[in-house]
Amino acid sequence: MAAFSRELGIDLGTFNTQIAEGNQILVQEPTIVVIVTNEMKLVEYGTTALGMLGRVPDSIEVVRPLRNGVIAEYELTEKLLGILIKKVTGPTIFFRPRIIISVPFGITSVERRAVQEAGLGAGGREVNWIPQPLAAAIGVDLPINTPTGNMIISLGGGTTQAAVISMTGIVSAETSHVAGLKLDDAISAYVRKKYGLIIGQPTAEALKIRIGAAIPSDEEKTMEIQGQDQVSGLPKPVSLTTNEIVEAMQAPLEEIATTAKRVLEKTPPELISDIIDRGVALCGGTALMKGLDKYLTVALGIPAYIVDNPVTCTVEGTAKAFGMLDLILRSQQN
Ligand SMILES: Nc1ncnc2c1ncn2[C@@H]1O[C@H](COP(=O)(O)OP(=O)(O)OP(=O)(O)O)[C@@H](O)[C@H]1O
Ligand SMILES: [Mg+2]
Repeated sequence: MAAFSRELGIDLGTFNTQIAEGNQILVQEPTIVVIVTNEMKLVEYGTTALGMLGRVPDSIEVVRPLRNGVIAEYELTEKLLGILIKKVTGPTIFFRPRIIISVPFGITSVERRAVQEAGLGAGGREVNWIPQPLAAAIGVDLPINTPTGNMIISLGGGTTQAAVISMTGIVSAETSHVAGLKLDDAISAYVRKKYGLIIGQPTAEALKIRIGAAIPSDEEKTMEIQGQDQVSGLPKPVSLTTNEIVEAMQAPLEEIATTAKRVLEKTPPELISDIIDRGVALCGGTALMKGLDKYLTVALGIPAYIVDNPVTCTVEGTAKAFGMLDLILRSQQN
């Protein structure tokens, strides 16, 4: 451990926040807090808070302080970051850590400043930012410092970010808000339409993760869930199959593919031929979806593959970025 200032890489995600130092991941917690409503007092955070979602009385609120990858609740974000940073540094910070934090590609300078200020307010001494796809590509060890085309798609909970990177810079990229949460919404809408049942986001997400897939599967799984009948308001069970979830998610999956296609359209042909040779790297929690690599391979006409560290590459890249900070800062000046 460094005796003086520590260097922390942070991936502040809509659903999950991670902190790494060197090549060690030190914190992994859901980006969610519980507050006492009329005092705005934070009483729980992370995994414990997630377990309380949809199960608390009116006097208490479970809040995700980020939406679509950007800070929606500034004070709560700063408090949560402060708690997570103290988990690493201990309760008394003698030497405030230097921080590099990933932000979605294409957010406004105001949104970016809010992230930097939250990092400073949470105890950081100096807070730099890096676009998330660049951090992910560094974390995956793509040869991004060479004049070659490297494509990565970061599929998170609140954002899909597709980018082509060359010479440590983003050549073309796009961020869409169609990501994990929109897949959950599509499943909820499908269940309501087909069975007249209302289900909450956690149930839709469980269906997606346990039996969902991006393309029809030979090994169909089923899962029984409890919903609330739209007409009677009473609980009612229903059993869903893999192929129903595939069908439910087709529209948002198409939008995800369209985002990646638009990025390819904006990419110079020389770089495209590199990408065809190397394939498209997929990362983020939504990249774990069964068959998504095959789905995108067909949709893009270029092989897409899931990286070895899909869930941790962004935070690993932010920590590694300390070693190339000059290059990264230079690319931010224009
Ligand atoms: N096995 C799985 N199959 C499909 N989706 C999954 C699976 N595991 C996790 N997810 C989804 O991954 C998403 C969370 O991914 P991740 O932690 O990368 O997001 P995030 O970094 O917090 O969000 P963002 O980068 O968009 O701000 C959630 O929507 C979750 O439902
Ligand atoms: Mg993310």
